[in-house]
Amino acid sequence: MEMEKLVSLCKRRGFLFQSSEIYGGLNGFWDYGPLGVELKRNVKDAWWRDMVTAHDDMSVLPGAPTEYEMTGLDCTIIMHPQVWKCSGHFDLFVDKMVDCRESKKRYRWDHVVGAWVTGAKKQHGADAVKAEVERVFVTVMDSENPLPQIETRALKYFGLRAKDASKIEMESKTAVLSSFDSFEAVVGPDATTTGTLTDPRDFNLMFPTTIGALGGEDDRAFLRPETAQGIFVNFRNVVDSTRVKIPFGVAQVGKSFRNEITPRNFTFRSREFEQMEIEFFCHPDSSQKWYAFWRDRRMQWYKKLGLSGERLILREHHQDELSHYSTGTADIEYAFPFLPAGEYGELEGIAHRGDFDLRSHMEGKLDEKSNPLAVQLNEHGKPKYRGSGKDLTYRDEVTNERYTPHVIEPSAGADRATLAFLCEAYREDSAPDDKGNMQTRTLLSLHPRIAPIKAAVFPLVKKDGMPEAAKEIYLALKQKFNVFYDEKGAVGRRYRRQDEAGTPYCITVDGESLSDKTVTIRDRDSLEQVRVKMDDVVAEIESRINA
Ligand code: GAP
Repeated sequence: MEMEKLVSLCKRRGFLFQSSEIYGGLNGFWDYGPLGVELKRNVKDAWWRDMVTAHDDMSVLPGAPTEYEMTGLDCTIIMHPQVWKCSGHFDLFVDKMVDCRESKKRYRWDHVVGAWVTGAKKQHGADAVKAEVERVFVTVMDSENPLPQIETRALKYFGLRAKDASKIEMESKTAVLSSFDSFEAVVGPDATTTGTLTDPRDFNLMFPTTIGALGGEDDRAFLRPETAQGIFVNFRNVVDSTRVKIPFGVAQVGKSFRNEITPRNFTFRSREFEQMEIEFFCHPDSSQKWYAFWRDRRMQWYKKLGLSGERLILREHHQDELSHYSTGTADIEYAFPFLPAGEYGELEGIAHRGDFDLRSHMEGKLDEKSNPLAVQLNEHGKPKYRGSGKDLTYRDEVTNERYTPHVIEPSAGADRATLAFLCEAYREDSAPDDKGNMQTRTLLSLHPRIAPIKAAVFPLVKKDGMPEAAKEIYLALKQKFNVFYDEKGAVGRRYRRQDEAGTPYCITVDGESLSDKTVTIRDRDSLEQVRVKMDDVVAEIESRINA
C-alpha cells in the first residue's frame, strides 16, 4: 500500500487533518476529524476496557503469574518541575541535532546518519558499507580522545548489533563528522543528503512553559513528555486511598508533548500525541514473570484487534542495549508502509524498570551505583536534585516485608496504534457498481470494535414507507452504537462511502422489508448479504461486533 493513498483517504473522509491548516499548518501537529475522533476513542476505550476494567477476564489471555488488580489515574499535564529533575528528563531527555550550514535546516542526528547510510547502501551494497563503517570507527577508536557514545539507535542503521555498538566509542563530535567526510569520499557527494553540518549537539525535547504572570526562572515548568511520571508520584496516594495490594497496575491515558526535531511520517512522530501507559507494581522476586506476561499480553492485544502476525514483531532488546536499571525491555514494532522494506517502527515499549523511578522520587540523585545516569552532585557533594523524601516503599500486610516495588511498564502510543490499524485496514479490491460493472473499491477493513461507525442504515429508495422503517431501525441501533443514516443517492454509492469509512455493516430496507419485516445486512469485507428479521437487527449487530 502506498502511504499517499491512505493519507489522502484520511483527509477526504475526515479521519485526520493537519492542525491549523488554513494558516498553512503546523509541523508535527494533527487534528482528528469526525471519523478519526471516533476511531481513536475506540482504540483508547478498547485498551482501557481490556487492560483495566475487564482485566481479570482471563479468557483474554491466560498466563498471569497470579491474580492482580488494575486501577486508573488522570494526572495533570504540567507537574512540579522537580518531577522532571528526579525522573532524569531535565538533564537527559535529549536528542542530538545538527544544522545544515547552507539550508539552515535542522536534522535529528540519527536520521541524518540513517538517511546517509541508506543512500550508501543503495549505491555500494550493505556489506561494503558495513565494512567501511567498521573501518572508520576503528580509526576513531584508536585515536587519542575517548569520548561520548554515539546513540545506539543511530548504530541500528549501520547494521551493527548493539553488542558491537557498545564497543564503539566516538572520540569527539568532530570525529563523527570526519567519519561523514570519509564516507562521502567513498560514496560520492550524490549519496549525501545533508551538505555541511554543524557539530551535533544536545536538544532537550521537553516543551517549556511559564506558570503565573511573573515568569521568572522559578516559574518555569514543562509540558509532560510522558504520562508515566504522574503515576509514580501518586503511588502513595493510590495505595493509601484504595485497597489495592501488590501486584497491581495503574493505567493512564493522556496527552504528552515532545519538541521532536523532525516530526515525520504522518502522525507517527508528532509533537503532541497521546500515550496509554501502565505502571505495574510487583515484588522484585516475581518481576521477571510479570515482565514476560505483559510483553506477551500486549502483543496479543494488537493481534486481536487486527494487526497481522507478519507485519507485527516483538523485538527483545539485547542485554547491552538496556538501561542500567532495566533487566528486560521489548518493543512491539510494526512494518509501517512508509518505512523501507525490512524496517519496523515502534508501537509500544514494555520495560522492566526495577525500582528506579520510585527510588528516584524518594531519594533524588544519590549514588552512582544505584542511579549512575542521574547522579549529579553539587559542589558540596550533595545530590543536585533532591527527591521528595516521601516514603514510596510498600509493606506486605501478610508477611510484614517492606520493600520498594519493581515496575513493569507497558507504554503505548494511542496515535501510533491508530495509525497502524489504519495502515493494516487499507485495501483495494473490485466490486460491482449499481449497474453490475466491476469497479475498484477502496475499503478500510477495521476490526468492528474500533470502526468509527458500526453500522449504516439505508432505505433503498426514498418512498413507499422505506425511510420510516429504516429510521426506526436506525434509532434502535443508536441506543447502543455509533450508527449512520443515509438516504441520499444510489445505494451502491452509499455502500462505497461506508466502505471507505470502515463501517463493517450496512443495513438496507427494501421493497420486501415492508411485507416480510426483514432487511439485508451487508458485510463490508466479504460483501455477503443476508436477510435478517427487523426485530433481530440490534442483537445480530451486537453479536457480530463482540464476536
Ligand atoms: N514512559 C515511557 C515512554 O514514554 P517512549 O518509548 O518514549 O516510552 C512510549 O514512548 C510510546 O509513546 C512509543 O512507543 C510511541 O508509541 C509513543 N510515542 C513516543 N513519542 C511519540 C511521538 N513523537 N509521536 C507519537 N507517538 C509517540
